[in-house]
Amino acid sequence: MAERPYIVGNWKMNGTRAMLSEARAIDRSSQRLMKVEVALAPPFTLIHAVHREVEQIGVGAQDCHAGEEGAHTGDISAGMALDAGAKFVILGHSERRQNHGETNTLIGQKTVAALAAGLRVILCCGETEETRDEGKAESFIARQLRASLPDSVENVEDVLTIAYEPIWAIGTGRTPTVEDIGAMHRSIRAVLVDLYGEEAAQGVRILYGGSVKPDNAKELLAADDVGGALVGGASLTAESFLGIVLAAAELQDQ
Ligand code: PGA
Repeated sequence: MAERPYIVGNWKMNGTRAMLSEARAIDRSSQRLMKVEVALAPPFTLIHAVHREVEQIGVGAQDCHAGEEGAHTGDISAGMALDAGAKFVILGHSERRQNHGETNTLIGQKTVAALAAGLRVILCCGETEETRDEGKAESFIARQLRASLPDSVENVEDVLTIAYEPIWAIGTGRTPTVEDIGAMHRSIRAVLVDLYGEEAAQGVRILYGGSVKPDNAKELLAADDVGGALVGGASLTAESFLGIVLAAAELQDQ
């Protein structure tokens, strides 16, 4: 696992102000688990409120527009997310790709815009079950990353995180084997080394996402080159999310 694992909760389209107490509880407990970096990506409507509630954990957005401002009804720019209190943004989540037709090119443009605005980026990639069954998962992911990552990124190890999330594992309760996760993370690392050079690329954390729960977190986080987790459903309550944070902290102690 990475020197400081990164556990990120993606609340997706869940949460009203009634959920601020969960964010507060996650923040309070995370203060005692400093060896783990903890963050939450609530919906846009809660970014500012969560930002004001918490002291320790990071707060981020789940998407942003590629432009700075203008006539884009319903969209939010990276600068606006930053202004609301976000420090990072999740880009290229498979639900954005599927439900909003986001392409690698657009995700690349969003990545450039977010980094320029001063947000850190968690860039998601993931294959369908069909692609995995065909034995093409690693080449598919390499293509996805090469088509959406900028050629050069200043301080890439500080501002970029990759999240590998097989689409068939998201919200399904199914997960790849630790061997498959390890192999995929090594393959992603090779793409990063090729793009950014050995030294910088080694500092980029690669998260695993897809049905991470308190009871499987330790096993998944222990897979080769897993630097943390991107957690959907199990991040919606402090109890289950903290179970995953604790698993990461215990692995650090081993
Ligand atoms: P899940 O979602 O943990 O509910 O599978 C993960 C994600 O989509 O980020």
